[in-house]
Amino acid sequence: MTEAKNPWWRSAVVYQIYPRSFHDSSGTGIGDLRGIINHLSYVKELGADAIWLSPFYPSPQVDAGYDVSDYTAVDPMFGTMDDFDLLLAEAKVHSLKVIVDLVPNHSSDQHPFFQAALKAGPGSPERAMYHFADGRGENGELPPSNWGSVFGGPSWTRVTEADGQPGQWYYHLFAREQPDFNWENPAVVDYFEDVLHFWLKRGVDGFRIDVSDALIKDTSWADTPDASPIIPKDEASGVHEIYRRFRKVLDQYDGDRMAVIETGAADDVVAQFLRPDEMHQAFNFRFLKTPWDAAQFSRAVAESLTAYESVSAPTTWVMDNHDSTRSVTRYGSAVSLIGDYVPDVSGLEALTAEQFALGTRRARAMALLLLALPGSAYIYSGQELGLPEVTDLPDEVLTDPTFFRTEGKQRGRDGCRVPMPWSGSEPPFGFSPPDASEKPWLPQPEQWRDLTVAAQTEDESSMLSWYRELLELRKREPVIGEGTLSWVTDPFAAEKHQRIHVRLTKEGHRPVEVILNFADTPVELPEGELLAASARLLPGPVADTHLLPGNTAAIVAV
Ligand code: BGC
Repeated sequence: MTEAKNPWWRSAVVYQIYPRSFHDSSGTGIGDLRGIINHLSYVKELGADAIWLSPFYPSPQVDAGYDVSDYTAVDPMFGTMDDFDLLLAEAKVHSLKVIVDLVPNHSSDQHPFFQAALKAGPGSPERAMYHFADGRGENGELPPSNWGSVFGGPSWTRVTEADGQPGQWYYHLFAREQPDFNWENPAVVDYFEDVLHFWLKRGVDGFRIDVSDALIKDTSWADTPDASPIIPKDEASGVHEIYRRFRKVLDQYDGDRMAVIETGAADDVVAQFLRPDEMHQAFNFRFLKTPWDAAQFSRAVAESLTAYESVSAPTTWVMDNHDSTRSVTRYGSAVSLIGDYVPDVSGLEALTAEQFALGTRRARAMALLLLALPGSAYIYSGQELGLPEVTDLPDEVLTDPTFFRTEGKQRGRDGCRVPMPWSGSEPPFGFSPPDASEKPWLPQPEQWRDLTVAAQTEDESSMLSWYRELLELRKREPVIGEGTLSWVTDPFAAEKHQRIHVRLTKEGHRPVEVILNFADTPVELPEGELLAASARLLPGPVADTHLLPGNTAAIVAV
């Protein structure tokens, strides 16, 4: 199918739903598909264009569903396939596109393919679906390489063969219950093409591709100095060919079906995955990981725009997701909390009232930049409520494999996954029905009574009202989110500035300037009509000038 000239995903605002934490319609303490259906109008009223659902497939839930045991079904914990079809139909009624998660790097160890591989033995086609290798040492008792797992500990696990003896080892980039597929085996590619067709035929609009750049491994399994794996990403590795195959599948369907890839690679490497015959867009993790600093943010914005433009792909902007310490907490505390992959929140204390106020103020300012810059923006549910990271979850409720694999040294990502507060003055804050038999799967802090959707809807100065205002403005003034960007401050001389200041233009629309002041002291705003400001402005030296206070952002039509 041919693509529209300006397909929806190029500037879409996508709302990420973490199904287990969004809304629990059945009282089990875990969110479900019916809960999502019940709150689609909330997402629509917020002003998003699409939802992305983290995995809801059958899974032993070792990694909160990123360990899939059946790629074409719904876990009964979340509902049924009928519920999913209803969700799709209801989303259509609300004009919301639906993106689902595809987890191709690894399956659950309970996936029938892996179970068959265990039974079939060395050298079998079943084992060739995954990465099995003989161990080193006299009796194969040493792992094939020294590579470590992202979640801590080794990335190889030894199996017991049918004769009851210790046998081969299998490779897992993440937990031992997440064996990596062998993407050099055409049977794996064929299988995932079928999975894509399955969901595309049902009517999904796109896929979020998990760990997208790690599919091909260096199977010489050579030891590395720092025990990290070797993941080839160049043309010769075949990984780009996989995405060209995926693209051909997507292009067989109408309606501009798309894929957004998850990769932590550098901008220029990511751009290679976004060439016109590969995938459509990638999460901009550089934006997410940048600490509160004008120079670093300016560079991140400028360099990512240049890299993506080089392949005619839109840039995305991402501030939060289910793997990262929540932005209010990051911006409110002095330290940058994002590790290489899994944030290290050990020792992280709850914010003081002052830090919470500063983090909130900065998160409001950053939301303006996120939603004003040209491209597509992602909002992780709860971000629009300004939820902080929950730092005091007791050990016994933690579920992240990182916590277990590092023997508690890293607390993992549960603190950004605490269920949404909808209404009321005490937990479960409307997350579960009043007669629920179970408590929410992670406890919500009492203080969230002030942060519920209901409380914030009443309050014009709340984070939720701010997001609604910004998204409404984005629709009203298409130069916001879609304009061509030019710099007023030089992004590469940003140490000399305390702000990001850009101009956006679009034919047929009035230009706007967007300014984010990172410092504590005010800067002057250009003359013009103030369209939005993340905090109240200071009166200026002359009647029609305004000063933009510290830690604040604004949009001015000029
Ligand atoms: C997901 C994580 C998950 C990991 C392994 C990531 O990129 O976002 O939540 O733990 O992949 O599947």
